Parts: sequence; structure tokens; C-alpha cells
Amino acid sequence: MRILSIALLAAIFAPVDGFTAEPKNIEKSSYGETPDGEEVDLYTLTNAKGMKVKIITYGGIITELWTPDRDGKLADVVLGHDNLKSYLDGHPYFGAIVGRVANRVARGKFTLDGKEYTLLQNNGPNALHGGKKGFDKVVWKATVGEGKKPSLTLKYESKDGEEGYPGKLDVQVVYTLNENQLSVNYSATTNKATPVNLTQHSYFNLAGHNAGEIRDHQLQIFASKYTPTDETLIPTGNIDSVKGTPYDFMEPQVIGKRFGDLKGEPVGYDTNYVLRESKNKEPQLAAKVVEPTSGRVMEVYTTEPGIQFYTGNFLNGKDKGKGGVVYKQYAGFCLEAQHFPDSVNQKGFPSVILKPGETYTQMTIYSFTTK
Ligand code: BGC
Repeated sequence: MRILSIALLAAIFAPVDGFTAEPKNIEKSSYGETPDGEEVDLYTLTNAKGMKVKIITYGGIITELWTPDRDGKLADVVLGHDNLKSYLDGHPYFGAIVGRVANRVARGKFTLDGKEYTLLQNNGPNALHGGKKGFDKVVWKATVGEGKKPSLTLKYESKDGEEGYPGKLDVQVVYTLNENQLSVNYSATTNKATPVNLTQHSYFNLAGHNAGEIRDHQLQIFASKYTPTDETLIPTGNIDSVKGTPYDFMEPQVIGKRFGDLKGEPVGYDTNYVLRESKNKEPQLAAKVVEPTSGRVMEVYTTEPGIQFYTGNFLNGKDKGKGGVVYKQYAGFCLEAQHFPDSVNQKGFPSVILKPGETYTQMTIYSFTTK
């Protein structure tokens, strides 16, 4: 009788999803609705060390990323907004998944299998980051994987002809929170040959999203070459050595130290680094950033041949972010693992063309430690 009543009590007080006393490491809540009536959800992934990432199904945007400093104090290290309306009102790709083709396509034109395609010229004379309604502005379908490593799978079906691109593209992005790592695993298939270049566009400030400029962060990029550009940021086609230039981050450098030596306006880095000649099967270390005051260290590993380093040069204080913080120039930096800009028009660059029967894959890992 006594045994029976203990069992009964246990059953009554047990959480609905089983007898486990472990806290849930992935939670879902509503984040509002788009003007088209599509519901947007927010997912919070946490690990045992307190690292936490918040992702919304609109644009696959990472809205918050909390990591500990050298004393274990958590800070949110990505720029972003705190409500859907602010994201809908427009923002410079804060935390978003970018595609179908991230970065610039010269004059918004390319030719594939003898046919010319025209994209929206939304960045001066060029096309940038997927067009008017790129993957950063669509609502993705989400499923969760719990267990030891919480993961969020986002799926999106991009229609044949969407934003001017050929072929129906089925895209999947899986965010996984590991011990101290956030990994982003992309895959895609198509029914017609099409260019594909996906990336994650988080702006980081390892002192905290509200901590001011990132100029004093120390950066190392494991690339001896970069792709110089014209004044509209389209690669000239050359692959140059970084040696003797302000683009050399082979050894750790303070980000803002050589701003004065850079050409172009606005001042800052907006540069594609050549990590390797083609995609790698396994992610390899591409960059390492140290924030000296907090001791936070971020390493980026990727399978991609390139990484765009951008220092938030175009931020101008008109973006009011989380908690009303005004994001001024250099408030965050991006390390966007991807293929090179304008690859679709550049014969000497690794190809971004995906054909029917093939699967596009890319994996990038952001790893957080302290020193
Ligand atoms: C580009 C910048 C651009 C920023 C926001 C980066 O990927 O390289 O030129 O201003 O995205 O759109």
C-alpha cells in the first residue's frame, strides 16, 4: 500500500515529459506575427554551463547569445533587436541566415547554362545578400531535437524564380548548442542548376552587445590571401597576399589599429579572406578573436573557402537595438563564413553552382572560451 502511494505521488508530481528532473534545454515561445499573418516563434537553447542562444524562425535570426567571461559572468555578445516589429522595420542583417546568395553579385547579373539572370540591385549597382526578401526575411519551419545537445532545425523551400534565382531550393539549417560551441549546419538541394552561398550574419561584440566599439578586440585570421575589390566592393578577380598590408591578421592584431591605413569609405574592414581553394569536408579553424577586458575568446571553424570580415562600418546609430542601445559604427564585427563575393561571375573563384542531384553542405562552428 505504502509503495503504491509513493509511486502514485511520484506519478502525480512528475513532469509531463517523463520522470526526469533535468531542466529543459530547449524552450519555445511566441514571438508575434508577420504582416502576412505568419506566426513567428522564439526558441531558447541552453546548456549546463549557462550558455544560452535565442533564435527566431523569422530569418533564422540569432537574437541573443549569452556566454561567460573569465569570472563566469554572462553577457549577450550579439547585436540585435528585442521584438519582431524592429526586425520587420529593417536592420542590417543582424544575426540572420543569408541567402540564396550571400554577399555581392556584380550589377545583379549572372549567366548560367547560356541564360542570363537578373537580380535586384539593392546595394548601389550590385545585388546583396539574396535580394528584397532573402532568407533573412522569410519564416522558417522549425523542429527541435532535445537530448544532451539541444538543436533547432529550420527548413525553408525557396521557389523556382524567387528573387530571380533559378530552381526550387530546399534549404535546411541546423543550430546545435554543444558544450561551449554553437554549430550551424547548412544543407540544400535544387531541381535546376542555381548559385547557392549561405552564411550566418551575426554581429559580435565579445564585451557585450551594449559595450561600445569592437576596435580593441584582438583578431587572428588564418588566411594569407584576400580578394581585393573595386569601390563597390566587387572583387577585381585577383587573389593577393596579405603580407605587408593592413589586411594581414596571420598574427593576432588589434582590430582598429590599422584603420588609418585602409582605403575606401566608410573606413573599416569589409574584406573576404581566402582560407583555402575549395570547400573542406571538415570545419577548420578560420579565425580567433580575443576581447581583453572580459577575457572572452571566440574561435570560428568552417568548411568554407572564404570568410568575410566586416567591422560594422555602415552602422551609423540609426539602429536602436536591445534595451534601447544605439548601435554606432564599429559596435560589432561579423565573420561570415562563405564562398567569395561575386563567385557566380568570377571564373577563378571556387564555384557556387549547385546542380540537381547534388547536396550543398556547409558547417560553421563558433566556439567560446576565456583567457
Ligand atoms: C557586407 C557589408 C554590408 C553588411 C550589411 C556585410 O556582409 O560585407 O558590406 O554592409 O553585410 O549588409
